[in-house]
Amino acid sequence: MADDKGKRLWGGRFGEGPHQLMERINASIGVDRRLYLQDIRGSQAHAAMLARQEVLSARDAEKIIAGLEQVKQEIEAGKMAWSDSLEDIHTHVEVRLKEIIGEAAGRLHTARSRNDQVATDLRLWVMDAGRDLDSALIGFQRALVEVAEEHAATIMPGYTHLQRAQPVLLAHHLLAYVEMTWRDRARLADCLGRAAVLPLGAAALAGTSFDLDPASVADELGFGAVFNNSLDAVSDRDFAAEFLFVLSLVQVHLSRLAEELVLWSSQEFGFISLSDAFATGSSIMPQKKNPDAAELVRGKTGRVVGDLISLLTVLKGLPLAYNKDLQEDKEPVFDAYDTVTDCLLVMAPMISTMHVNAQRMELAVGHGFLNATELADYLAAQGVPFRVAHEVAGKAVRLAEDRVCTLEELGEEDHARLCEGLEVELGVGLKQALDPVRAVNRRISPGGTARQNVEAALKEARKRLWPEGSA
Ligand code: ARG
Repeated sequence: MADDKGKRLWGGRFGEGPHQLMERINASIGVDRRLYLQDIRGSQAHAAMLARQEVLSARDAEKIIAGLEQVKQEIEAGKMAWSDSLEDIHTHVEVRLKEIIGEAAGRLHTARSRNDQVATDLRLWVMDAGRDLDSALIGFQRALVEVAEEHAATIMPGYTHLQRAQPVLLAHHLLAYVEMTWRDRARLADCLGRAAVLPLGAAALAGTSFDLDPASVADELGFGAVFNNSLDAVSDRDFAAEFLFVLSLVQVHLSRLAEELVLWSSQEFGFISLSDAFATGSSIMPQKKNPDAAELVRGKTGRVVGDLISLLTVLKGLPLAYNKDLQEDKEPVFDAYDTVTDCLLVMAPMISTMHVNAQRMELAVGHGFLNATELADYLAAQGVPFRVAHEVAGKAVRLAEDRVCTLEELGEEDHARLCEGLEVELGVGLKQALDPVRAVNRRISPGGTARQNVEAALKEARKRLWPEGSA
């Protein structure tokens, strides 16, 4: 490692340099070097604005902007010598710039502090990352919709309390996750809107005496607005916390689906089998095929939610304005983003390639009296108060359970006896009422699982997710 001690940005008032341990705990370069692109973009925009405002000469600004371009290329070519004693990405870039262009580099930091600089960098990073996250969310939605389209007629048990409840379409079940993801995307867009507020120009905390034009910097960098209060601008990390919440909820949604995939791929359910590419074997039990990818998605939820809590805890109790605690904001943001995008990227092909055992699903619908509600509804539709109908259907279930048969397999006479005293038609009507496919297709209430509803929802999803002219 080079000896960079003389290059610190703040040596003037210090007699001796920091303790080795201080240097270690103070250095964030291992984490924030990831902000190099945003840092350089932000500095170039700042220099250009300073020149427009005649704070900087055009010649110095040109040198700075070109020099920063070279620093960027060096970083991308792996030529930057990273060093803990240069603390962070801002110092590395500026120190290297000085080596390249000389004294003019010292003017770049005019009317700026690392406090508004780092806040700008992280916001830019979140804005960039947010776009990629949205693409990953779209990929996940598309994978769900494609499998749903293939299974527009596959029926399966719908569950409450993880007990078989009523038959639903598999497509309907998968579309529930598509809905969650629309909300995730809306939340993301909303969060990105608030992230896109430029803090640059707040300087250390109080603003600056130089005549700045932050609005033009905002325009150049793609921010939608400029900060109102300098103290807030340098200390606000709400956008990062919101981004972490968005990521956490995405991950929680993925985890719920992952849990279902784990259950469904068990022998107990047998509803799906995952492709070998997303499973692993056991080192001792030769027959095993474990749904590891789904388990990992579920497991990684712990760290993503942990990242959110981590940042909230950093923020809690911070007096205004900037405090070094804020340096701890980046690691959770990067970690959660990496984890969630990886999980989205793995979930999409895991779903696309899984084998759906439609027969097993249908078989499961036939066991567990999923049509008991149909019997009650059938009677209620003929004027029997629902509570009475419910009681009759309950008794029918008990009788069928005793006889180890289904409701359909009970005899006409059994149903007649159960309905004694009620003015109802049984016969063919009842048979049809108990049929699970008909039961599904009767659920035509808005958002219900009827085939016609689901077909319409699929069409709508296809229109939204594959707009004209999109790839
Ligand atoms: N590395 C610092 C961070 O991430 C940059 C800001 C440092 N500001 C300061 N006054 N020491 O927060």
